[in-house]
Amino acid sequence: MSSDLAHASSQPAYDYTVVRAFTLATIFWGIVGMGLGVFIAAELVWPGLNDILQPYSHFGRLRPLHTNTVIFAFGGCALFASSYFIVQRTCQAPLFGGWLVPFTFWGWQAIIVAAAITLPLGYTSAKEYAELEWPIDIAITLVWVAYSVVFFGTIVKRTTSHIYVANWFFGAFIITVAALHVVNSAAIPVTWFKSYSAYAGAMDAMVQWWYGHNAVGFFLTAGFLGMMYYFVPKQAGRPVYSYQLSIVHFWALISIYVWAGSHHLHYSALPDWAQSLGMVMSLILLAPSWGGMINGLLTLSGAWHKLKTDPTLRFLVVSLSFYGMSTFEGPMMAIKTVNALSHNTDWTIGHVHSGALGWVAMISIGAVYHLLPVLTGRKEMWSVPLINVHFWLATIGTVLYICAMWVNGIFIQGLMWRASNADGSLTYSFVDSVEASHLGYLVRFIGGAFFVTGMLIMAYNAWRTVQAEDKSALPNAQPQLA
Ligand code: HEM
Ligand code: HEM
Repeated sequence: MSSDLAHASSQPAYDYTVVRAFTLATIFWGIVGMGLGVFIAAELVWPGLNDILQPYSHFGRLRPLHTNTVIFAFGGCALFASSYFIVQRTCQAPLFGGWLVPFTFWGWQAIIVAAAITLPLGYTSAKEYAELEWPIDIAITLVWVAYSVVFFGTIVKRTTSHIYVANWFFGAFIITVAALHVVNSAAIPVTWFKSYSAYAGAMDAMVQWWYGHNAVGFFLTAGFLGMMYYFVPKQAGRPVYSYQLSIVHFWALISIYVWAGSHHLHYSALPDWAQSLGMVMSLILLAPSWGGMINGLLTLSGAWHKLKTDPTLRFLVVSLSFYGMSTFEGPMMAIKTVNALSHNTDWTIGHVHSGALGWVAMISIGAVYHLLPVLTGRKEMWSVPLINVHFWLATIGTVLYICAMWVNGIFIQGLMWRASNADGSLTYSFVDSVEASHLGYLVRFIGGAFFVTGMLIMAYNAWRTVQAEDKSALPNAQPQLA
């Protein structure tokens, strides 16, 4: 990073066009994906909404569309944008790969559109977070290979002596996601829109959750930690607290994450030792996760006062707090006896969204607010007070969401399902717990609506910022996005 600053006067011609395209796509897909989240949340409050456009508007069809859009479209575009920006800046080299660069942008958008068409039509491999059918899986592989060539090619071409830690995290994310995708998507096609998994039974379940958990670990965590290691120091104007700790954080995180997936299969047909291994590895995972969070937070030493005036920094810091919270909660839920209570309840959904909204979305939003002024040659966003409004809507929305799911998951579903009378019969029927969950679903819907309102405000602020672009302040000539 220091060399990044030192070379500022002799910057090479960075390709910001693709970064800008992915940044704007992040906002767009964020609104679509989270809007869908609010809609399916509303379906759980007012079930009649399922019938609006049967069968396409059904919860079962739109839920995977929500998860695919928020994770791969919103999160994916944020990762492309920031990795392309960061790798150029920290390597002091423009992106490698020529036409492969715009290919990754258009290819990724085409895949998202294909998902948006096929999922509501009911085409699915029925593997969570890997629902897309085989022709789209092949397209994902092609774009990912192109992404790897661009990213690692830029690292090879770098003019700096060392590889900044953010790039290590992005590199691990790119390599691991490639392996996860290829192995888990292995299938035998029977028609253009139907295939069967290459695995069966408990083996299929293990491969799926090795994929699912590491999609969390590498797609939703490692890449975003790469963002954290660049944007937190930049926005705070301080060097990263400990470079040594960041290296320990990296190796510990990537070597432990891959063993923890079986915590998704507690009390299943998976061999008991494999379940226990997943539990123990999940508990150990707390250490590197918190090491990373602490490294990020301590980077603010001497800069805490900036939080008063800089809402972008607030997004970044609060995201780290949620990262710490969800990586404490996860290991607890991985303990088998705790999982006996939490599994299949809304507690899991609360945990997911404290990671997804609190960590992934907040750090991405902070990154976008950092990037947009740089990409438009401005000192700051068009309106800083609007960033502040967005910050509070996002924070209150997230807290409402996860608190509602804790109450629903623990006190209503978890405890009501196991309550029994003196004669051993169940105290409550399942329907009793569904009725009692209704208020929590309403609160979650309101929380989600807060979050999306914040995203709409961001879109407006981004639009005004782009309108007020200062071309004369943009660094160097930029290759055009074909
Ligand atoms: C306005 C914001 C959001 C709302 C209202 C929302 C709402 C929902 C709802 C209602 C579900 C289905 C829960 C169920 O089956 O009972 C869900 C699932 C899910 N959402 Fe969201 N969501 C939002 C944002 C996000 C974001 C930003 C991400 C990821 C970055 C995300 C990732 C997921 C995942 C992974 C699941 C599946 C959880 C599981 O299977 O355990 N969501 N969401
Ligand atoms: C140390 C870190 C973490 C551990 C050990 C962990 C552990 C767990 C456990 C035990 C479950 C419940 C499995 C079940 O009962 O079915 C779970 C679910 C989940 N977690 Fe985490 N978690 C961690 C961090 C995170 C983070 C940071 C995110 C998001 C960014 C996240 C996203 C998810 C998702 C999406 C699910 C739902 C999977 C599904 O059933 O569809 N986790 N996690």
